[in-house]
Amino acid sequence: MKATAIANSNIALVKYWGKRNEELILPYNSSISMTLDKLYTTTTVEFSKKYSKDELTIDGEKISGEELERVERQLNLIRRTAKVSEKAKIASASNFPKAAGLASSASAFAALTLAATKALDLHLPKKELSIIARQGSGSACRSIYGGFVEWQKGTLENGEDSYAMQVAPQNHWPELCMIVNVLTPKQKKIKSRAGMAQTIATSPLYKAWLETVESDLEKVRSGILEKKFPLLGQTAEMNALKMHSTMITTEPHIIYWEPETIVMMKEVMQLREEATECYFTIDGGPQVKVLCLEKDAKKIEKRFSEMKEVQKTFLCKTGGDAKLIDMELF
Ligand code: DP6
Repeated sequence: MKATAIANSNIALVKYWGKRNEELILPYNSSISMTLDKLYTTTTVEFSKKYSKDELTIDGEKISGEELERVERQLNLIRRTAKVSEKAKIASASNFPKAAGLASSASAFAALTLAATKALDLHLPKKELSIIARQGSGSACRSIYGGFVEWQKGTLENGEDSYAMQVAPQNHWPELCMIVNVLTPKQKKIKSRAGMAQTIATSPLYKAWLETVESDLEKVRSGILEKKFPLLGQTAEMNALKMHSTMITTEPHIIYWEPETIVMMKEVMQLREEATECYFTIDGGPQVKVLCLEKDAKKIEKRFSEMKEVQKTFLCKTGGDAKLIDMELF
């Protein structure tokens, strides 16, 4: 009744932004991500009669309120599938700041789903794990897989065709790197969930976002499969800017960028002027992630780490699938 799983975080190259069904977490658009080897969450889950309620600790801190409720909802889904009612103790630890726009909910809900299903002896195929993880946090359905991953939006009302699939495996493009820059570890004020809903309700640009997503998906897919770095990078950078344009034009505005974010975007543009090819992407937070090739990675990372705006860098490559491990957090 006890299991531990580890899942890598993922960063979208074509972003998921907006739900057609908030309850089941079904998106308006498909998305494609890169799973990152250096950012991960480890989660141990134990179901037992000895627990009278679900107990959760994250990075050693006891959690209650909304965050606990979200985890309980996910466990209830898994308990229903396994037809059990035991409460659980859950301990989770990530090696990066949570809720700062580094996709902590992606690795967290992927690890939770894998550990909890295994603890209840459900041996589910990856497709089913992805469907369950999706209902905890949309981006988590992509963290079930390593390498490059596409979350197909699906069209069914019940969400059975809305899950992630691998576009290319972890070892497909070993030269591709993503430098994750932590500019400020502050937690964001508006969660992606509320930000998306507000965007759909009020941004006049949301329709335009949806109109161009299919073509971005096609370009990013072929950028990955044919290892065309400029095509991949340019499309990913533009896609992130388009998503942020929809956020910035909501009422009230949602601006996830901090001054340091702009400094970093300019630095990436400056590097390109100096003929060092790299491209940025940004999620629901101030952090800037930079795509580059291995031959330039160390030089770029050094340059970023010397900037006063940058507190920490993670030089990442593609990570592997979410997996079960022997180590236990309690
Ligand atoms: C900007 O997956 O965190 O990072 O489904 O509401 O839990 P919920 O949202 P979440 O949103 C991620 C949004 C994004 C883009 C992306 O990862 O595709």
